[in-house]
Amino acid sequence: AKLLVLHGPNLNLLGTREPEVYGRTTLADIDAGLVEQARQAGHELESFQSNGEHELVNRVQAARADGTGFVLINPAAFTHTSVALRDALAAVALPFIEIHLSNPHSREPFRHHSYFSDLAVGVVCGFGADSYRYALDAALTRLSA
Ligand code: DQA
Repeated sequence: AKLLVLHGPNLNLLGTREPEVYGRTTLADIDAGLVEQARQAGHELESFQSNGEHELVNRVQAARADGTGFVLINPAAFTHTSVALRDALAAVALPFIEIHLSNPHSREPFRHHSYFSDLAVGVVCGFGADSYRYALDAALTRLSA
């Protein structure tokens, strides 16, 4: 199956963005690791980052037609604001895992609510770049079940 990884706003700055919160690994490093992890399990993985809500909505809609079987998403700040992105995931009805580098529950109160968690297969947060790796491991287990 094909897996789609979506990264929300400001994640293009990973590596230099508040490294004490988000770590020093770049998004390119994360994506390269995920491609390799998926390949070893015999699956194809594509990733997409955007700072724009409509671009993420459009990419989710396209996933319905492009053979995507599973979505991994770090909605970043849209986690706490975007009914539109939530509705797009509900519309395509693809299974997804919500990912965060930090643990939003140990941060400001406005990060405690997510528009995605109740629709997600599961949520992985708080492990830095490893959050993506653990989430992909879970997705690959489900795809081979
Ligand atoms: C984040 C957490 C969000 O609250 C924040 O807006 C982000 C990144 C994370 O990966 O820890 O941009 O999703």
